Amino acid sequence: MEFPLQDEIKSLMEKNRRVKGGFTYTVPSPEIYPFQWLWDSCFHAIILSYFGKNEAQNELRSVTSHPLPNGLLPHIIYWEDGYHKKNWGRELRGDILNQSWGIDGTSAITQPPIIATALWHVHTMHNDIKFLKELYQKLRTYYLCLLAERDPESSGIVGIINPDESGEDNSPRFDRAQGLPERHTADQNLNKRIDRIRQNRECNFNARDCMRQHFWIKDVAFNAILVRGLEDMAHIANEIGETEDHDIFLIQQSRTKKAMRKHMCEGGFCYSLDDDINKKIHIDTWNLFTPLFGGTLTHEEADTLVHDMLLDEKKFWSPFPIPSIAQNESCFQKNDFWRGPTWIAPNWFIYQGLKRYGYEKAAGELRDRTRSLIERSGFREYYDPRNGKGLGANNFTWGGLIIDMH
Ligand code: GLC
Repeated sequence: MEFPLQDEIKSLMEKNRRVKGGFTYTVPSPEIYPFQWLWDSCFHAIILSYFGKNEAQNELRSVTSHPLPNGLLPHIIYWEDGYHKKNWGRELRGDILNQSWGIDGTSAITQPPIIATALWHVHTMHNDIKFLKELYQKLRTYYLCLLAERDPESSGIVGIINPDESGEDNSPRFDRAQGLPERHTADQNLNKRIDRIRQNRECNFNARDCMRQHFWIKDVAFNAILVRGLEDMAHIANEIGETEDHDIFLIQQSRTKKAMRKHMCEGGFCYSLDDDINKKIHIDTWNLFTPLFGGTLTHEEADTLVHDMLLDEKKFWSPFPIPSIAQNESCFQKNDFWRGPTWIAPNWFIYQGLKRYGYEKAAGELRDRTRSLIERSGFREYYDPRNGKGLGANNFTWGGLIIDMH
């Protein structure tokens, strides 16, 4: 079977492939993101599974090779010695990549828990029980640690301790918690995020303390991805004969799903919670659609969401969808990182969610528009949702996810 942009994606992935210390990994973009990122590598494993078993498995092997002492998987593995002495991507990212996390070789925070979904995907493509067994304990520890450490109230919902853990570093849904006004410069945002890392260091990355003292957001996308991850952990456990774990993961999955519905959602519209003020953050971001990916909505709720939000041209159905922020939000900015532009990984999540709920036509349209966006502007980090102009890093890998939109 031929896949869209197959040859271009293959050569992009090869160009961005690195080998260090016996491990193979892929950098999201050679100039701006020269290290290994957690959710990026999960996307890479899904993309690479279309080109071969070993490539996909090696990506998951390397990204799970440096767990933090508590078992969480770090959001960055630097691989390079002396990385902090270089000014990687400084012109775009300020000093953010050179921060000290109080630990060597990795960051000390995590990213959305999509790894079980990536591993399960690779397994469904290549059927290798031995590899499931090889990674199982690390993934098990990671998910159980998230559930325990990030939910000190036992609510069923997990929290994040730093905006970068969401994968959407400067999303407006963090503005209030970051003490930022709706309009601010990229530098102001970066400086707040650097302050946040310093605070995280002060509380030793101990989630309970960091959340109580500084920053405690219960994020919709993070939790919807967790629900899906727990479902996939249950599949994996079942496949390798860990029947007790299978049940545990399903119970946890249903707990988080119920808690999301109870605390975050109303009539199909789910919003992140700012725990400091115990409030929903009512900003329409692409996160609204992640419950479709997690399977946490009823069909009736999904219908309202898809028709009243996703397919509304004034909100998310722009000429080059899906904007990260609804176009009718006052904070929408068409070219500012996670404050408006279209990103391909969100499109992949939304596509999978639409398929899950049976919206074949909308899913097909989203796939076609995503493909023409890449054909028109190349593999860029993000795009202007109005005219499709490519923005941010070049040779950015996320466009490769189009291969899994079929
Ligand atoms: C940016 C993105 C984040 C991604 C990283 C590497 O920081 O916001 O989601 O993981 O780049 O691509």
